[in-house]
Amino acid sequence: MKIPIDKNRKIKSKPFIKWVGGKTQLLPKLLQNIPNNFSTYYEPFLGGGALFFNLQPKKAVLSDINPELINCYAVVKDNVKDLIDDLKQHHYDKDYFYKIRNIDRSPEFLKWNPIQKASRFIFLNKTCFNGLHRVNSKGQFNVPFGRYTSPKILDIDTIETCSKILKNTTLLCDSFFSIEDKVSAEDFVYFDPPYVPLAITSNFTSYSKDGFDSSKQIELSDLCKRLNSKGVKFMLSNSSAPIVLELYSGFNIEYVDALRFINSKADKRGNVKEVLITNYNYD
Ligand SMILES: C[S@@+](CC[C@H](N)C(=O)[O-])C[C@H]1O[C@@H](n2cnc3c(N)ncnc32)[C@H](O)[C@@H]1O
Repeated sequence: MKIPIDKNRKIKSKPFIKWVGGKTQLLPKLLQNIPNNFSTYYEPFLGGGALFFNLQPKKAVLSDINPELINCYAVVKDNVKDLIDDLKQHHYDKDYFYKIRNIDRSPEFLKWNPIQKASRFIFLNKTCFNGLHRVNSKGQFNVPFGRYTSPKILDIDTIETCSKILKNTTLLCDSFFSIEDKVSAEDFVYFDPPYVPLAITSNFTSYSKDGFDSSKQIELSDLCKRLNSKGVKFMLSNSSAPIVLELYSGFNIEYVDALRFINSKADKRGNVKEVLITNYNYD
């Protein structure tokens, strides 16, 4: 059964965390390109879930490979009151930040429950440098303290709204290819993978960004081709690196302008071309 998106049903919402590669600024463009009807919405590179929280589909399967992230979503969905209570203890202070950050270096952390872990995850997200999520080879969070004027660690309205929107979703911690045996022809998938660096041209095979290397980009484009044969609609974001255009030639490729950090200095921002790839025409 196809479930139309009812634009009047939507409640005002935004992601409860900030995430590198977040799609908030590209939302108008993404929304213009969503098919009118579909059954289940899939988002296998969930991150902050900007499109999902705006779209509020009735049925959704959301996944990401990051276990801390998916634990946090599950707690927001099922234990929002306890999470809000736990978040109240946190405050913005450098020494406190490092105390909470370094807890994953001690055996005590193994005894923490999912709510405590989700609360720590949100606290670190709001107070670390640029909201980055990075762990070392031992899986320990290693982003330094971030300088903010007054970071909003607890945003009750946003978390409660996100909790409601998540109610009918399935959350999975898994790699993107696990969706293949679940999707059917009536469904819609939005892929927002780690981007191919723009500078990548001929030596495509030699890079790896966030563990997402060229072989993963190729596996993803192969999956898109199989989904296309199955009749599944998909939309995919990526950089406009030449290899992306090559991997998805034959599908609709639209260039979109995005304001991105294009330099290691935070104030150096500029417009870069990204692409939005679809395998359908607008209904
Ligand atoms: C560009 S971000 C997604 C941004 C998101 N759309 C938003 O609006 O915030 C990419 C996400 O892909 C996840 N990821 C990386 N490799 C993955 C894989 N092999 N399978 C599934 N998710 C993966 C990362 O954990 C990260 O959350």
